[in-house]
Amino acid sequence: MERTQVGIVGAGPAGLLLAHLLHTEGIDAVVLEARSRQYVEQRVRAGVCEHTTVALLRDLGLAGRLDREGLPHEGFALRFDGADHRIDLAALTGKSITVYGQQEIVKDLIEARLATGHGIEFEAADVALHDLESESPRITWTDSSGVARELRCDVIAGCDGFHGISRQNIPTDLLTSYDHTYPFAWLGVLAQTPPSSEELIYARHERGFALHSMRSPEITRLYLQVDPGERLDDWSDARIWDELATRFTLDGGFTLREGPLLEKIITPLRSYVTETMRHGRLFLAGDAAHIVPATGAKGMNLAVADVRRLAPALVALLRKNDSAAADGYAEQCLSRVWRAEHFSYFMTTMLHRAPGADPFTDRLQLSQLRYVASSTAAATSLAENYVGLPFD
Ligand code: FAD
Ligand code: PHB
Repeated sequence: MERTQVGIVGAGPAGLLLAHLLHTEGIDAVVLEARSRQYVEQRVRAGVCEHTTVALLRDLGLAGRLDREGLPHEGFALRFDGADHRIDLAALTGKSITVYGQQEIVKDLIEARLATGHGIEFEAADVALHDLESESPRITWTDSSGVARELRCDVIAGCDGFHGISRQNIPTDLLTSYDHTYPFAWLGVLAQTPPSSEELIYARHERGFALHSMRSPEITRLYLQVDPGERLDDWSDARIWDELATRFTLDGGFTLREGPLLEKIITPLRSYVTETMRHGRLFLAGDAAHIVPATGAKGMNLAVADVRRLAPALVALLRKNDSAAADGYAEQCLSRVWRAEHFSYFMTTMLHRAPGADPFTDRLQLSQLRYVASSTAAATSLAENYVGLPFD
């Protein structure tokens, strides 16, 4: 049987960064990933890195490409009633965010891991966790060559995302969780065309929300609020561009640059938190423990914040048998998690139009938008959450 100190399930931002943080402390880890390297490096997800995320990657010497290719943003626009209202992040908070695709971070972290001489077990099938309440839990899986493998660990980190198996290993009667669904989803596209604006645009329109983002000076990322039951087949490229143009309408005119669509995806919006982030020797981090609707751009940043707490907690546990930080791990994470949950809910409900929403709700949304656009106090509150609250 193979042996390591920390068995990490999932090679997303949480799992890969945790492996790196542990390595810098001399703690040995094995990373198991269900998908192929190519798949995880191509999977288009988040785009916005909080300043705290960027600072951590810089401290670790992992931000070389991010600093060269990432796009620093000092503000974004809220577009409603046919006008833009800029949220000046830099003036309001002294901080900015960086637009840099999650899959680019994943590529950088994979490269950093391989450079340490340690691999990643890609295409690990049938991953199963055992003996979690003992001091030496095990992971079994079938590797990419079809060989049955078994790994004994001191600790297992469940970093396998919302649909992973780690959380499912916690008995339901021990799991305290909170769930909220929204009556809409996002249709996201990647377009081969320069962004139509230098900054992100969060647009609230009678027909629903739309978001203009980007990945590079040549690639635009766009999202449309759609019904959760919507099928991609019903969204031709022409229909997508028409709907985007309508929702981004601006008095005085706005030209949306069109181009070939490189990918289309529909993702439901959902909020979920399990406060049980630990069960015996299993620790959950990132989307495995909590998800937020993407409107607040918080998911990946929360995953990073979790492992930033988990790594030193595991180091203390494994090196000094000191369990204080490990015992306090969930509580430490959850105040940031709940703040992000609230902020994401706030952004989502302020900007989306629920099907059949009554005129009263409409008026409340517009009142909130006008308040944020006109009050420095309200805009500062939004901005400090958006750039990322201080870590400690
Ligand atoms: P994941 O990235 O989901 O990684 C989990 C990994 O585990 C995956 O590689 C998966 O293949 C693997 N895995 C799953 N099951 C198993 C198994 N049984 N065995 C082994 N491996 C397994 N967040 C932001 O901060 N900013 C944004 O702008 C933003 N925009 C988003 C836009 C969209 C459209 C979406 C969908 C998400 C967005 N997010 C955003 C959220 C962000 O992408 C996630 O929060 C982030 O990926 C969480 O990282 P993670 O490492 O916890 O989980
Ligand atoms: C993205 O670029 O993918 C993105 C940006 C801002 C968000 C969500 C997603 O709020």
